[in-house]
Amino acid sequence: MELKKWGPLRGEITVPGDKSISHRAVMFGSLAKGTTEIHGFLQGADCLSTISCFEKMGVSIENKGDVVLVHGNGLHGLKKPETILDCGNSGTTTRLISGILSAQDFDVTLTGDASIQKRPMKRIMEPLSRMGADITSIRGNDCAPLLIRGTKLHGIHYTSKVASAQVKSAILLAGLYADGITQVTEPFVSRNHSERMLKLFGASVSTEEIEAWDSVVSTEGTTASISPATQLYGQKVMVPGDISSAAYFIAAGLMVPGSEILIKNVGINPTRDGLLHVCRAMGADLTLLNVRGQEGEPTADILVRHSALHGTTVGGAIIPTLIDELPMIAAMAAAAEGETRICDAGELKVKESNRIAVMVENLTAMGADVTETEDGMIIRGGKPLHGAVINSHLDHRIAMTFAVTAQCAEGLTTIQGADCVNISYPRFYEELMGLIQKRGVC
Ligand code: S3P
Repeated sequence: MELKKWGPLRGEITVPGDKSISHRAVMFGSLAKGTTEIHGFLQGADCLSTISCFEKMGVSIENKGDVVLVHGNGLHGLKKPETILDCGNSGTTTRLISGILSAQDFDVTLTGDASIQKRPMKRIMEPLSRMGADITSIRGNDCAPLLIRGTKLHGIHYTSKVASAQVKSAILLAGLYADGITQVTEPFVSRNHSERMLKLFGASVSTEEIEAWDSVVSTEGTTASISPATQLYGQKVMVPGDISSAAYFIAAGLMVPGSEILIKNVGINPTRDGLLHVCRAMGADLTLLNVRGQEGEPTADILVRHSALHGTTVGGAIIPTLIDELPMIAAMAAAAEGETRICDAGELKVKESNRIAVMVENLTAMGADVTETEDGMIIRGGKPLHGAVINSHLDHRIAMTFAVTAQCAEGLTTIQGADCVNISYPRFYEELMGLIQKRGVC
């Protein structure tokens, strides 16, 4: 994929459905009694991996495009798959499904692509084993492939060292089947879609509530609890646009002179909206319009206009609320004036790629002044950026970050492995170009 600076981006865009919510709607729908109707489902490779895993376990799923119907088999209705479950590139599929599989009355092996086979699974194996689960890493390296022998589970109170929604959700899902209450305490609140949606499906979940989209996130640890369930009930789920996908258009609108973009129907759950706080701290002209849906998942239309951005510090409790947006934030910081420090973000090293190393490598190739640190990076912004050959390391968020950054760089940028955007945003490049073409600039 070759890109260059084409000029301002202007117009309206609707980003695809939230990836985390789409996964959960299929999973919880599969475990529920009755049909779950999912509107706005993300047709990205990751969420299709989740559908395929549950189909292999006997769940009938009709994927009609924007609407997906999941005809659930009930909490105890999954069947032993005839083959290995392939989670593709999806950490969410691998980790959340492990919590469910730990409690079934059959054995199963699950694996994924080369990236998944390098990602740490000890973080779920350890708490699930404490609940009584029988999980083995087949190569003995605490990574997939995993052999999970379903068994009876006990409720536990687990204190996690990392703020991870995948870890929390795996434990809560296992807790649906446990013989007592299961609690997970994490150092900072991570995305709470599982807690919200499990409640909607009829599970008994309690959390420390966060009331408004702009409320301050917890800085002292946070606990989610679940009681064993007898049944979940199919629901209608409206999936909002993914703020992690909107992030690229928010950044493009802010970074490229003359731009103005309205991004419609974006999820602004306060456990996901850290990017908006950081953009404002950097001096962004960003307005939320039509804020709605506070009951389920809050959404808004986001209007961004080109802004003179300056550096900031990003660390602490806000990190889990913008973890997937940090590559884009780092690139925005390179185009901004002054210094930005990203800290407490060691989790970036164990994402689809080592996102600290990969961001430093690629930003440096474009002429930015960036230093890698133990748990983040320091970016001294304002150096002129130039086109470069970008290695995406087959990480969708890296490819999209640099497609946007190319809009602020002189000369040609070539993105290697650009197709990996299919994981979360198959139409990303068309939509990016579309905002430019609408003005007849391209
Ligand atoms: C996700 C949680 C986050 C995030 C990932 C999706 C989820 O991962 O980075 O893209 O859907 O629960 P961690 O739980 O590893 O932080």
